[in-house]
Amino acid sequence: MESISPSSDSPATSLVSPKCVRVCQNRTCRKQGAAKVLAAFEALATLEVTVTGSSCLGQCGNGPMVLVLPDMVWYSRVHPNEVPLLVEQHLRGSQRVTQMLYYRFHPQG
Ligand code: FES
Repeated sequence: MESISPSSDSPATSLVSPKCVRVCQNRTCRKQGAAKVLAAFEALATLEVTVTGSSCLGQCGNGPMVLVLPDMVWYSRVHPNEVPLLVEQHLRGSQRVTQMLYYRFHPQG
């Protein structure tokens, strides 16, 4: 006889997915200061957030490009001075920073 047990170990359906920040480190974004943006995120992000440099995100010329997953929120022309606001408002407060959104994927917010 088989007992059917509820799948109590299903993967984290009740938990909020951890956020991941990708900061493009490819050529064009690096010329626009992406290394400093990545360093600023690494200095400020909390333990629950994974920060990684990424290869080209396909939006060259609008960088430094930042992609927040799993939210699929894109930020363009991110300046290191803006990173504290993004960390506080989006990563900790789960609210998009409207004025920094990438217009192509988030037309007016
Ligand atoms: S180099 Fe950053 S999006 Fe292409």
